[in-house]
Amino acid sequence: MSYFQRHIFFCLNQRDNGENACAQHGAQAGFDHCKARVKAAGLAGPGGVRVNKAGCMDRCAGGPVAVVYPEAVWYTYVDQSDIDEIVDSHLKDGKVVERLLLPEHVGR
Ligand code: FES
Repeated sequence: MSYFQRHIFFCLNQRDNGENACAQHGAQAGFDHCKARVKAAGLAGPGGVRVNKAGCMDRCAGGPVAVVYPEAVWYTYVDQSDIDEIVDSHLKDGKVVERLLLPEHVGR
């Protein structure tokens, strides 16, 4: 068994050169909300879920983005209710949230 059941990585990358980056699209708020929601749900810690910061994951055109492992499922989100759904459905129960999936072709 692995130390954590699941990881979710949030791109928090910021660019100061005017190029698109997840930080300009509410990534920090999404990360903060996810962290709080995972903790409140009792999912945080060994055997549970780890919410991690990440730098650019090269899929900026769909930002803000997050990816869940070990399933390697990529999400894009807009607001806190999207994060709630990812936590309650995927991180807790392992059910992928189809409506928030990042389309396969989306890159940088
Ligand atoms: S800036 Fe977020 S994936 Fe590149």
